[in-house]
Amino acid sequence: MKQKILVTGGAGFIGGNFIHYMVNKYPDYFIINLDALTYAGNLGTCEAVEEKSNYKFIKGDITNREFIFDLFEREAFDMVVNFAAESHVDRSVADPEIFIKTNVLGTQVLMDASRTFGVKRYHQVSTDEVYGDLPLNRPDLLFKEDTPLHTSSPYSASKASADLLVLAYHRTFGLPITISRCSNNYGPYHFPEKLIPLMISRALNDEALPVYGNGENVRDWLHVYDHCTAIDLILHKGRIGEVYNIGGNNERTNLEVVQTILKALNKPESLITYVKDRPGHDLRYAIDSTKLKTELGWEPTYNFETGIKQTIEWYLENKKWWENIISGDYKNYFKEQYGDQS
Ligand code: NAD
Ligand code: TYD
Repeated sequence: MKQKILVTGGAGFIGGNFIHYMVNKYPDYFIINLDALTYAGNLGTCEAVEEKSNYKFIKGDITNREFIFDLFEREAFDMVVNFAAESHVDRSVADPEIFIKTNVLGTQVLMDASRTFGVKRYHQVSTDEVYGDLPLNRPDLLFKEDTPLHTSSPYSASKASADLLVLAYHRTFGLPITISRCSNNYGPYHFPEKLIPLMISRALNDEALPVYGNGENVRDWLHVYDHCTAIDLILHKGRIGEVYNIGGNNERTNLEVVQTILKALNKPESLITYVKDRPGHDLRYAIDSTKLKTELGWEPTYNFETGIKQTIEWYLENKKWWENIISGDYKNYFKEQYGDQS
């Protein structure tokens, strides 16, 4: 059946990859990309699908209720997939307010419009960070869907607040929702303020690589393509009202990640610079995706070795995309964030 799908935040990293995936996989669907084009939004990310007849971009802010209601009335969406968010933990430490506005209030506006205009599925893209962190010395512990929410940063607190609101809209108003909570993504079009693209771009320029604390914190890395296939499955086969964890079973310390990148680029480890730790820094994330695998048959296509190789090649072949970003306002942010330490 034909579907008209609103994808919010489609000029960002994961939303952009999802737009590529959906526009190409479902030529008979109509995909509308709504994005406010904040510092993290980049239309260059969607260039390859710009001319497709089943795709349209609209600039707009999910917190603007009047605009969102007009849009929903006009377009009569079947589904909404909400990627739009402020997504960087360090920025949430520096200035939490916009995180509450976009991530919590923006979600509420989208759900109010979804209720009013009879959207058949509202999907909330969430994160494993809502579960807080796990100890480094307990590899047996993994986040499951019923692990209590226990957040550390203003970013994760805003995402957890949104999740609770989404579940409340399901229970109270019967809004047909699903939620996915994914581990750390990496891959093409990743904004170079996050660990992997930051390290690749700086190593290529022979610049210092700022590793927080002792580099022992662990993340569970998933290639963004596998996140997209998981959301596709949840949209088409997931049970209404359910939460699905998505994870790669690719736990690595930050130091291991940086060393892998340096080795692949043939750059020296002397570029690594240990800098002041992030306040409240989560120790370890690790996801149990059994529910997604057994219920919906999801399997990732990449492991960390194949995924990081593909990603590094992409950054080598698409220098223009990330060099444009680094030459803008981002330079000032970097100075403020890392000061003299880098
Ligand atoms: P991103 O920062 O790269 O992109 C966010 C996009 O949202 C940008 O294009 C930005 O312009 C847009 N946006 C921000 N505020 C908006 C607003 N008010 N109205 C409309 N658009 C707005 O983020 P990302 O890494 O692609 O993450 C996308 C989603 O996935 C987020 O909800 C994030 O919490 C979640 N997530 C991310 C990861 C990860 O590893 N990056 C992991 C799990 C979940
Ligand atoms: P990040 O990519 O910001 O994702 P998240 O905090 O959402 O997991 O960071 C991933 C890990 O890398 C995290 O433990 C913090 C660490 N990190 C550094 O050591 N140096 C950096 O410059 C950045 C951006 C992150």
